[in-house]
Amino acid sequence: MQYIPAYLFAIWNILVIGSLGVTEAWDSRSQDFIDRGLRLLQLEGEASYNLYGVLSGRLKNRQDDSAGMCNRGDGHHCGDHDDARKEKYPPCTLENLIIRKEWRFMAKAERRKYIDAVYCLRSKPSLVSEEEAPGSKSLYDSFSAANFLAWHRYFVWAYDKALREECGYEGASPYWEWGYDVYDPHGSAVFDGSPYSMGSDGAPLPNRDPTYTSPPPPPLPADPNDPGFPAGLGGGCVMYGPFSDWNISFSPVNDQGATLDERLRYSPGCLKRDMNPYIGQHYNAFNWSTWTIEESKDMFGFLSRLSGAQGNFGTPDFETNLFGVHGGGHIFLGGMTGSHSDFFASPQEPAFFLHHGQIDRLWNIWQWLDIEERRDDLYGTLTFANIPPTRNGTLDDILDMGPLAPAIPTRDAMSIIDGPFCYLYV
Ligand SMILES: *[C@@H]1O[C@H](CO)[C@@H](O)[C@H](O)[C@H]1NC(C)=O
Ligand SMILES: *[C@@H]1O[C@H](CO)[C@@H](O)[C@H](O)[C@H]1NC(C)=O
Ligand SMILES: *[C@@H]1O[C@H](CO)[C@@H](O)[C@H](O)[C@H]1NC(C)=O
Repeated sequence: MQYIPAYLFAIWNILVIGSLGVTEAWDSRSQDFIDRGLRLLQLEGEASYNLYGVLSGRLKNRQDDSAGMCNRGDGHHCGDHDDARKEKYPPCTLENLIIRKEWRFMAKAERRKYIDAVYCLRSKPSLVSEEEAPGSKSLYDSFSAANFLAWHRYFVWAYDKALREECGYEGASPYWEWGYDVYDPHGSAVFDGSPYSMGSDGAPLPNRDPTYTSPPPPPLPADPNDPGFPAGLGGGCVMYGPFSDWNISFSPVNDQGATLDERLRYSPGCLKRDMNPYIGQHYNAFNWSTWTIEESKDMFGFLSRLSGAQGNFGTPDFETNLFGVHGGGHIFLGGMTGSHSDFFASPQEPAFFLHHGQIDRLWNIWQWLDIEERRDDLYGTLTFANIPPTRNGTLDDILDMGPLAPAIPTRDAMSIIDGPFCYLYV
């Protein structure tokens, strides 16, 4: 029942924004339209309109087509895979579609239920890995360039599934649209520290250095062009609200030479945050998300813009933005001290799943603006930044979630209404 109003809103979004997008009723390229997030919503409307077309049978699903990407004569028999995929999973229909909402657009009661379920999940030893954060170890083990997006899509979904099955949560995974918060993160409904938030910023640290440079995650070398950035607003433990009593079991190691064992060594502490509006404004404002989607014609472009120079994809042909929206969102919340900025420990931060919900949403919008071409588009190898060099990733590579969910091939995670998935962002 609780899905009905959100469902109606989704349909409204799809039909009204989607069709207005088609008619270009607004001056959709104006800077103001972009900066207020309206262009992004319009793109989302167009994408959802296409997705809705497939679900309602108005448009053909690419999988049902014998033409298109599956028939390039390059030895790929997508049809066989798609039949197997259909048998393995229940069909996704308009009736069982789950609606994922931005945190601030969820009812307060819904937000409380989510927070309670996150606390509950933590108390389930069977699902919590030895590092006491679902997925931290698998994240480390399976991090790669090629299946980065698919892996995280499946991870957020598996976490959501665990919240439902183990802890009776009935809602959907929320996401965090950073664009609303880049000027006033402390006023954000996500991080204002109220009982209906994901908890406050970290306590301000006295006597901080005024500027920092961010050490790149291993195995990347330091970037000599990193301009540094002003210190964030927090730096210490979450002060009040949910997760102010959260314990983490390994703390961020900002040491580039740290080994895997050092990074995952037991080092208990509080959950730290260091919200940084400078980072938000320079990496996560609406214009950057919109640019990431609109400028990218293929997965190489999309992933490069999303990950920035830190993804080290080598992009002589176009501009990227140092951290990209992905790295930017990690540092916007985690700053220089927080778990969220740690390349491998970040799933210990409960808001990690809201951040990655937003990443998944952007990927999904980008995909559905041209689903035929973009659904199965992969780029990259099996190692982050291809260090050490490995082969290109494929749709057959396995996504491993550890104890959270069964391992599946990447191809099953390429669309939010196929494979195990059946959800929609509004
Ligand atoms: C964190 O650790 C303290 C002290 O051991 C404990 O009282 C508290 O319940 C823990 N919090 C959570 C959320 O597990
Ligand atoms: C986003 O806005 C900022 C501030 O106006 C500007 O410096 C930056 O170049 C913009 N980015 C894009 C991709 O337009
Ligand atoms: C890996 O992918 C890149 C980019 O798509 C391509 O140029 C390269 O030839 C591929 N390598 C192999 C061994 O297929």
